[in-house]
Amino acid sequence: MQLLDGKKTSEDIKNEIAAEVQRMKADGQKVPHLAAVIVGTNGASLTYVGSKVKSCQQIGFESTLVALPENISEEELLDKIKELNEDDDLDGYIVQLPLPKHIDEQKILMAIDPDKDVDGFHPANFGKMALDMETFLPATPFGIMELLERYKVETAGKHTVVIGRSHIVGRPMSILLSRKGYPGDSTVTLTHSRTKNLEEFTKNADIIVTALGVPEFLKGDMVKEGVVIVDVGITRVEDASNPKGYAIKGDVDFASVSPKSSFITPVPGGVGPMTIAMLLKNTLLARKIRSR
Ligand code: GUN
Repeated sequence: MQLLDGKKTSEDIKNEIAAEVQRMKADGQKVPHLAAVIVGTNGASLTYVGSKVKSCQQIGFESTLVALPENISEEELLDKIKELNEDDDLDGYIVQLPLPKHIDEQKILMAIDPDKDVDGFHPANFGKMALDMETFLPATPFGIMELLERYKVETAGKHTVVIGRSHIVGRPMSILLSRKGYPGDSTVTLTHSRTKNLEEFTKNADIIVTALGVPEFLKGDMVKEGVVIVDVGITRVEDASNPKGYAIKGDVDFASVSPKSSFITPVPGGVGPMTIAMLLKNTLLARKIRSR
C-alpha cells in the first residue's frame, strides 16, 4: 500500500508556482492576483478560505479576501460580482460555496466572468472541460488527476467507480477520468444516492473516488485487492479528545480499506491540500492568459 500524499505533492506544486512567480517578478511582470468571496460565518468555509489566502501569501500571489455578511441580498452580491469582474488588477476569484439559502447559487456562478472563474464552475468553462478545450478545471477533480499522474497510477482501461454526482466533484471527475490520454482513458461508472447494489460496483472497481460526505462509509469488504482509493470526503465529527472539539473523517474506513489497496489518499492530507494547489495553478493560468 502506498499513500497518495496530497500534502507533500501540494507543497511541491506550490514551490513550482512560487519559483515561477519569482521569475515573473524578476522580469518586471505583474504577479497573479486571486480574490476569495465569503458570505457569512460557516466554520468550515472560513477555514478553507483562510487556507486559500494564506497559500497565496506563501507563494507570492496578491490576494484579497471579500467577507460579506450572511444577510446580504442576492442583488448586493451580484453588484459585488460585477465589481470584481471589472477590476482590471484581479486575475481570478472564487465565491466560496455553499451560499446562504436565500441566494440562488447558480445565478451567482453564472454572473462570474468566465475568464476570471478559476474554480471552473461557470457553464462556459464546464462545457470547455467536457470538450477538452483549454480552461480552468474544477480544483478538486483537477487535483485528483494531478495526484494520480505524479504517482504514475495507471488509469487506461481501468474501471473507475465515482461515488457522488455533485457539480463540483463527482460529475467533473467522471468526465476527466474518461477523457482521452493520461491520466484518463478510464471506463467510468458514476454512482449516486439512487444507485442500486452499490457494492457490486465498488467490489469490481480498479479505482474508487468517493465524494459522498458520509464518514467511513466505504469498508474493506466492499473493495477488491489492489484497488486505488481516492477519498474526497471531509466531514467534521465531534471528538472530545481533540482540542478543536472535532476530528476530520473521510468517506473511507481507512483501517479496513488501506490493507487491501495499492494506493490510497489519507484524510486529512490527501485530496484537500491538492484542491488549494490547483486553484493557485488556475490563477497562474488566468494571469498568463490575460497577459497574452
Ligand atoms: N466549497 C467546497 N469546495 C469548494 C470549492 O472548490 N470552491 C468553492 N468556491 N467552494 C467550495
